[in-house]
Amino acid sequence: MSAAIGKAGPGVHGAAGVGVLGLGVVGSAVARAILEREHTGHTQPSLKLLGAVVRDIRKPRLVRLPEGLLSTDAATILDNPDVSIVVEVMGGEMPAFDYISRALRAGKHVVTANKEVLCKRGAELEEIAAEHGVRLLYEASVGGGIPIIGPLTTDLSANRILGLRAIINGTTNYILTKMAAGGAGFDVALKEAQGLGYAEADPTNDVDGFDAAFKITVLSRLAYRTHVPLEAVYREGIRNMDAKDFRYAKDLGFAIKLIAAAQREEDGLLVRVHPAFVPVGVPMANVNGVLNAVEIEGDMVGPLWFQGRGAGPSPTASAVMGDVLRIAREIESGSGVSTVRQPVEGLRLLQMGEHQCRYYLRLTVHDRAGVLAKIAGALGEMNISIRSVLQMDTDEKHRVAGLVIMTHPAREANMQKAVARIRDLDVVASLDNLIRVESYPDIAY
Ligand SMILES: NC(=O)c1ccc[n+]([C@@H]2O[C@H](COP(=O)([O-])OP(=O)(O)OC[C@H]3O[C@@H](n4cnc5c(N)ncnc54)[C@H](OP(=O)(O)O)[C@@H]3O)[C@@H](O)[C@H]2O)c1
Repeated sequence: MSAAIGKAGPGVHGAAGVGVLGLGVVGSAVARAILEREHTGHTQPSLKLLGAVVRDIRKPRLVRLPEGLLSTDAATILDNPDVSIVVEVMGGEMPAFDYISRALRAGKHVVTANKEVLCKRGAELEEIAAEHGVRLLYEASVGGGIPIIGPLTTDLSANRILGLRAIINGTTNYILTKMAAGGAGFDVALKEAQGLGYAEADPTNDVDGFDAAFKITVLSRLAYRTHVPLEAVYREGIRNMDAKDFRYAKDLGFAIKLIAAAQREEDGLLVRVHPAFVPVGVPMANVNGVLNAVEIEGDMVGPLWFQGRGAGPSPTASAVMGDVLRIAREIESGSGVSTVRQPVEGLRLLQMGEHQCRYYLRLTVHDRAGVLAKIAGALGEMNISIRSVLQMDTDEKHRVAGLVIMTHPAREANMQKAVARIRDLDVVASLDNLIRVESYPDIAY
């Protein structure tokens, strides 16, 4: 079934009218791009900026808007019949959800960069958009400038997606890259990221893995046609990473990355976000700084690789504007919007306990006889076999030594039980870190 293209008219003098909710980092770049198109006047389809909404009208802005376009009242956009495209770049669940749903119900198309609202309320919003025959596009919500939503929605739709693995948080990737390169601790690397504007004053969303979790649910919904609530994502951030882990990882031939993955298993879908050892020979290990990357495997197309700038005003505005122009072209041509609901595959969501991988285990042990036998015993009881053991730094004064154990593949549930037992062993001073190793079946490492 196809519906007419929204209720809103073709805007002003044939140009599609655009209203921008939020004029911060992304909103300013989007407004600038629209105004530049207006000034050059030669680009089709034509757009007209009809308003922008902010919280505080007195704040200095990164873009100069024509007189009278800035307001604190969302109704100036949502109730304006000349606005046919609403760009939501405020962030957060509320009031973004209210504004987006009001716009869709009023027959306006919506473009958003907001992964949080899409993660928490995306299914509802898609439903409202379909009911009202309007578009809800969100290329900028994952991977900034990387085109990933479009390919998953259209180009790859004939594929059964088998696996999806990504680095989709630039802040944590910057921090991990700094820690790997300079031997800096987490706190120092975080402060540097904050100084450069890569991390917010409250870094929780990034460093505790929420942002990556929001994004992987958005990708999972498209790739697997399965609604993944945030609570179903296994989530672990990077606060526990230590300079020692980077040193040992390097010696062992790995990089450490915050991986977001959604994997199709025989009996369901496992969605997880956590730091992981990635073998240095694979492209993912070499995605550094604020770059993002997404690996997808489809049954027809095989493996695909997307990499690019995952944040920042210009790359994000590139993705937002791509969506805006697509809608404006449709408005101009009068073509309809398909309101056919995507079939829902609804895969069973698996618990992290069912995950299987190799592990890196770093411990501080008392320097006495029988240490290894006791640790190997605790692992063996849970059917986990050791692949290698390395004795690292020894502290003669306190008679303790650093021990790194790499295991063969094991079930997460078993590993967690073994870890609890190892912690209680009298020969173990502390269990310092447990990091999963990403599986790459086709390469030897
Ligand atoms: N920054 C990036 O690189 C990037 C990349 C990809 C996606 N995104 C997403 O894009 C969205 C915007 O990010 P951003 O970095 O541009 O954020 P930002 O710089 O904090 O800007 C947010 C804007 O929204 C306005 N705003 C917030 N709450 C509002 C409310 N209740 N009513 C009216 N206006 C409100 C703010 O107004 P005031 O200016 O008056 O405070 C500000 O202009 C978020 O969803 C983010 O996740 C950002």
